[in-house]
Amino acid sequence: MPLARRPHHYLRDFWTFVKPYRKPLREVYLLYFLNSVLNLLPPLSVRYYIDLLFHNAAVTVCGITLPSLAQRSLSAKLLFTAVFVGTMIALIIVANTIGVIMWRRGTRSVERMVMDIKLKIHHHINKLSLGYFNSERIGTIMTKAVGDVQNISQLLRNSFNLTYAVIQFLLAPILIAMLSPLLLVIVLIPAPLIGYAFYAMRTRLRPMYRVQREHESAIASQIQEVISGIREIKAFNMEERSHSQYRDINRRYYRMQNEIMRVFSFNHQLQYGARDLGVILVAALGGVCALLDWSNITVGKITACIALSSYLYNPISQFLSFYDTVQRGMVSLERVIDFLNEEPDVRDDRHALTLDVRATRGAVSFRDVSFSYDGRSLVLKNITFDVAPGERIAIVGPSGSGKSTLISLLLRFYDVSTGQILLDGRDIRTFTQVSLRMAAGIVFQETFLFYGTIRDNLLFVNPTKTEADMYEACKAANIHDFILTLPRRYDTVVGERGVTLSGGQKQRLALARVFLKDPPIVILDEATSAVDTKTEQLIQEGIERMLKNRTAFIIAHRLSTIKHCDRIIVLSHGTLAEMGTHDQLYAQRGIYFDLCEHNKL
Ligand SMILES: Nc1ncnc2c1ncn2[C@@H]1O[C@H](COP(=O)(O)OP(=O)(O)OP(=O)(O)O)[C@@H](O)[C@H]1O
Ligand SMILES: [Mg+2]
Repeated sequence: MPLARRPHHYLRDFWTFVKPYRKPLREVYLLYFLNSVLNLLPPLSVRYYIDLLFHNAAVTVCGITLPSLAQRSLSAKLLFTAVFVGTMIALIIVANTIGVIMWRRGTRSVERMVMDIKLKIHHHINKLSLGYFNSERIGTIMTKAVGDVQNISQLLRNSFNLTYAVIQFLLAPILIAMLSPLLLVIVLIPAPLIGYAFYAMRTRLRPMYRVQREHESAIASQIQEVISGIREIKAFNMEERSHSQYRDINRRYYRMQNEIMRVFSFNHQLQYGARDLGVILVAALGGVCALLDWSNITVGKITACIALSSYLYNPISQFLSFYDTVQRGMVSLERVIDFLNEEPDVRDDRHALTLDVRATRGAVSFRDVSFSYDGRSLVLKNITFDVAPGERIAIVGPSGSGKSTLISLLLRFYDVSTGQILLDGRDIRTFTQVSLRMAAGIVFQETFLFYGTIRDNLLFVNPTKTEADMYEACKAANIHDFILTLPRRYDTVVGERGVTLSGGQKQRLALARVFLKDPPIVILDEATSAVDTKTEQLIQEGIERMLKNRTAFIIAHRLSTIKHCDRIIVLSHGTLAEMGTHDQLYAQRGIYFDLCEHNKL
């Protein structure tokens, strides 16, 4: 878990995404400024238009004193009106053309920035160690990668409108004060109501948004679990239980959303009421001042002030509606940045070497290796053994004794807690993870096939291999004939998790994948457990060929497979209990003997 971070840390990290686009963004913000100033000119001009037409005194516009038209002929007034409208239309066209340019440029930069964030998240998911995925639910990671990014994108897009609103909010009172400071005071009378609305928003809504985001993650996780575990849910009649859990979490979400909307709508209406009150006060109190000829207030000034007051109050209403987006966006930004700051447990050393896979002999040594997943209970304890290049080692032991864990340490899916694992005499932590994993081919206990064709699922492991090599590998794994029976043969798309293939077929594809990878070290974790004995005999020859001159670790339950190994390691409760050949261990009459006798092998 990252340490508690402060807002400026988040902004600093976020800046790394903004930085590449700072030049276009600067231009966009400048255009927004220009646009908002231009938009304020028409309401301001109304004052001059009205006062010139209806007020008997001369009017000063930008230092130029213009005589009143109040006493002139109707046609002069109409001509003036036509010129005024024409000028305003021209102004509006210019302002909106600028608006289109800034909008297009702004969204382009934002979309690119969002794409950068998405790519960074994907890259980071690949970089994180397996330990992270054990402790974090998939739905939560998905929500960060999809939903939170969406919120950030909305925040960025709205940041332009926000800039626009801020500029108008700052300029409108200045322009009103220039008309008449007294009118500004009047228009601001309802401001404390808005101040209160903001305060309530700030203090109450933000924590609510954070909780809401967690509910959203839990909802996504629940859906993900239903989909992944649909077989188990049906088999154990868990539909009702799963549904009631989902209902509970959705109810919590609903209640929180209601609460958010309650605070939100109250504040929203408060601010609308304040705006209307401001307009009424300007009209009424301003009108009284004009009647009494106080403070030089004219009808034109009152009209302009009413028009400008919407530029003062509308941004406030926008701030309040942006508040939702901004709060969501900020919470999402924090979550995404925290995620990106999550350090992988297994890291390449700064001076890590690239293992030369071709020159790897495959001598493996475990030196007093202990390991714990959670930092508390040890799953492997003081394991020490040496494997010579080309030796074939069987790893046996009861379920949960640590067999799969042992080999996952060899590939640095996790790093040892204490002790050392050596490859050709060097600690495996001195190699880059990528090069180390190139040296080993593994068939996992559970085979995962990527969504794509069978060909894609095979050839990606080794781009140097040809189509002919692929057929060869599939023949050795005794899966070639089966593939030929499929309608599209090697172009058959296997489902998201290879669901169209049986467990044994998937295992044989996984074996073919290792044949193709052609690595100096081979690891088979129950690689033929889902294959029937007859088929296993058929692939045995292929496996034999593959294992020739390679160091191999074979986890198996079948005596037939184990007997072919040079040495057997017996694990029991995470310790290395026995080691030797089949005959030696059998004669010892220990754990191995028991496993054999009770048909557990
Ligand atoms: N990702 C994990 N996080 C925490 N604990 C784990 C994890 N994987 C395995 N364990 C624990 O470590 C112990 C050893 O598990 P491991 O998978 O290595 O056993 P195994 O010998 O391969 O068993 P099996 O024959 O059933 O495959 C078990 O007690 C298991 O609960
Ligand atoms: Mg296992």
